[in-house]
Amino acid sequence: MIKLRENEYKTLLIIKRLGGKASAEQITSESGLPDATVMRAALALQEKNLVRILEEKRTIVELNDEGKFHARRGLPERRLINALISLGGRAPLEKAVKKAKLEKQFIPIALGWLKRKNWAVLDVKTNTLQLSGKPKKEEADEELLKLLNEKKRVVEDLPLELQSAVKILKRRKLLKIEEKTKRIIEITDTGWKTIKKGIRATAEVTQLTPELIITGKWRKVKFTRFDVTAPGPVVYPAKIHPVQQIIQRVKEIFTEMGFTEIRGPIVETAFWNFDALFQPQDHPAREMHDTFYLAYPKTGRLPKKSIVNRVAKTHEDGWKTGSTGWRYHWNPEEAKKLILRTHTTATTIRYLADHEKPPIKVFSVDRVYRNEKMDYKSLAEFHQIEGIIMDKNVTLRDLIGTLKEFYLKLGLKRVRFWPSYFPYTEPSAQSTFHVPKLKKWFELCGMGVFRPEVTAPLGVKYPVLAWGGGLERLIMLKLSVDDIRLLYKNDLDWIRRTAVCQ
Ligand code: PHE
Repeated sequence: MIKLRENEYKTLLIIKRLGGKASAEQITSESGLPDATVMRAALALQEKNLVRILEEKRTIVELNDEGKFHARRGLPERRLINALISLGGRAPLEKAVKKAKLEKQFIPIALGWLKRKNWAVLDVKTNTLQLSGKPKKEEADEELLKLLNEKKRVVEDLPLELQSAVKILKRRKLLKIEEKTKRIIEITDTGWKTIKKGIRATAEVTQLTPELIITGKWRKVKFTRFDVTAPGPVVYPAKIHPVQQIIQRVKEIFTEMGFTEIRGPIVETAFWNFDALFQPQDHPAREMHDTFYLAYPKTGRLPKKSIVNRVAKTHEDGWKTGSTGWRYHWNPEEAKKLILRTHTTATTIRYLADHEKPPIKVFSVDRVYRNEKMDYKSLAEFHQIEGIIMDKNVTLRDLIGTLKEFYLKLGLKRVRFWPSYFPYTEPSAQSTFHVPKLKKWFELCGMGVFRPEVTAPLGVKYPVLAWGGGLERLIMLKLSVDDIRLLYKNDLDWIRRTAVCQ
């Protein structure tokens, strides 16, 4: 005779009654106990070797909107082939499409699958569609489509042929797929033997009441031992997106360090984004494939004449800055062009033009845009952390010290500074962060002291320390994410799992 805790006893008897094997849901509904209690009891019984818990992965599929659409009308290739057959097996593509009443966006899909399924070929020269095989009345993918149109199904329960059709429809993006784990609890041989010998529930007290104390009964009763390490139900409280949390932290840190936040326009003139930063007008970064230009309106306004003239002169021959300039004819039309800012240095330089007097300590965390292909390491829209310090006697060492402090507050210790180059700073440097696992240094941000070619045309007389760099890279390092797209794809699972501290 062995003694079991009440819930374990109950659970074991229910499984026995259900034939020795039952799913967690079945036990929950039979016993009226909460999910977590049943699972805890099952785990305890497993510990005693009385049951074993089997996990079965189940994949549930249903049609998405496009899937439902095709389920109603037929797959695009089926509609097109039916039309072709009724047109005698050979017809101009246009005619067959019309006959099939096929929507424009499905034409390439239909053609692709006609070829793959070997139903018809398109003669590209004459644009004629020709029947090439004998299409079956219904293929596995169509059968599955019909089936799923009735209701969702468990993939593992489908016949093998339809399971492969799931893969096809999944690739065609016609399905919604959900993975679930089903837990089955089964009585073991030891379990059956033990039940035969007899089991009993011990009455356990789960709560110490005043009555138990006053009457002294507490001395005799048996208290339930709580296993505080046992898994309970997971709770996901509402929280701020990890990216936003880090942005907030970055802003907090700069504010703590005495900086003020500034913001500037996203749609910017090339003047502030490039020209004011002494980037020549034929600089490769200005090309369409790197920068987004606005189609409408195409141009914006330049600042006051005095600034424009001095910037123009500096580009052409260096003006009074001691530089020789870039030695070309500066074109105001090029500078008027509207773009999406490619860096937030456009924002700090704009600010500087309006604030020539020291001291200045400002920062910005904001969006920038570059015409880049999206992949695991780049996005076309991302954030930069940027800032400037202007004061009478500041030097690059002050900048390095400030940024070291910033990174330290953010929890990054292994940061190094290397010499670098930017058209608008001299000297220039770059900060990098070391990831031991990858044995690699990652670039964090560029920095330097603005050149006189940048500051003099704005009437600024003191050294200006400037820095700027990508925010996402920093977030990826902090959160150990190796694909930048994860940060913005609203993957709820990742968002829930990701704890951001500091
Ligand atoms: N604007 C530079 C970039 O986008 C960074 C930078 C800012 C460099 C300020 C020097 C000074 O990479």
